[in-house]
Amino acid sequence: MAIEGSAPGKVILFGEHSVVYRGPAVVLAIDKWSRVVADRRRDKKIFIDSENLGFSGYFLGDAYHPVRGEEWRGKGLAAINVSARKTLESVGVKSGLNLVIRSDIPSAVGLGSSAAICVATVAAVEALVEGGLSRDDICSLAYEGEKIVHGTPSGVDNNISTFGGIIKYEKGLGFERIKLDDSPPFIIGNTGRKRSTKKMVENVAALRERNTVIVDRIIDALGDVSGEGLSCLTKGDLRGMGELMNISHGLLTSLGVSSPQLDLLVYAARYEGALGAKLTGAGGGGCMIALAEDQDLKRVEEAILRERGDPIRIKISHEGVKTRKVG
Ligand code: MEV
Repeated sequence: MAIEGSAPGKVILFGEHSVVYRGPAVVLAIDKWSRVVADRRRDKKIFIDSENLGFSGYFLGDAYHPVRGEEWRGKGLAAINVSARKTLESVGVKSGLNLVIRSDIPSAVGLGSSAAICVATVAAVEALVEGGLSRDDICSLAYEGEKIVHGTPSGVDNNISTFGGIIKYEKGLGFERIKLDDSPPFIIGNTGRKRSTKKMVENVAALRERNTVIVDRIIDALGDVSGEGLSCLTKGDLRGMGELMNISHGLLTSLGVSSPQLDLLVYAARYEGALGAKLTGAGGGGCMIALAEDQDLKRVEEAILRERGDPIRIKISHEGVKTRKVG
């Protein structure tokens, strides 16, 4: 018997970058999923096959042995190995594993694909060995994998991927789950340009170092926009939320985290009727997000395509990680 774990990706609606300093970030789980199928092996190996990336290999402890693809590819699989191993350790089971990864979430563009893969891995492995872990346990174990990729991330990505829905996150205050039954119609535009979150955060810190008073005001404004944006979202005030998304993009641009490609997609989406459009996540590449009424979605999608972006229609996923038996 094998178990498939599935976990959703995420998008930041408001508060990227400012959340590093103060104020809330509003994060949505999206209906794009990473899937991991786990089954047991007789030996001690953790064999990982990444169908999307087209390479595979196995780990014995931390040592990676490629089967398909180069040895350095092992770096990209280390988080999955750690998530799986820590899960086995936490329930006291010694076993080898086969893990097959399939993901609808593009990687390294701010949509939480690495966290979703870690969460799906932990859930699949714990269900396979009937570990009896809670969702909180799954979330914490996936964080161990996330640390391999991102150092010491905020924990937002593994949290939203485990529980789904909407999270308000504020440094020092932690997570608050926001209830909303509906999902407004969003389109993500992927520039396809991978970027380093760490570098973008460092760039903002350096700008702040040189212009502390001004940058702090921008950060405060971004925090306020995020709080107001959340209240528009919960009230269903889409026009108000769109306007705040536009303001947020302007403020983020003034922090130097937009890019020509992001600006092209943002302005093309607005020109074709989007109620609001902004970059999402670390910026410098990666993705933008647009809010549009149903009748305008197609035009916005075509505008993103025309500007060489990849449009992805999304809805908020109210469901978090889940598992099912396969084979
Ligand atoms: C990146 O997804 C979001 C940032 O705010 C960084 C962070 O919060 O760790 C840019």
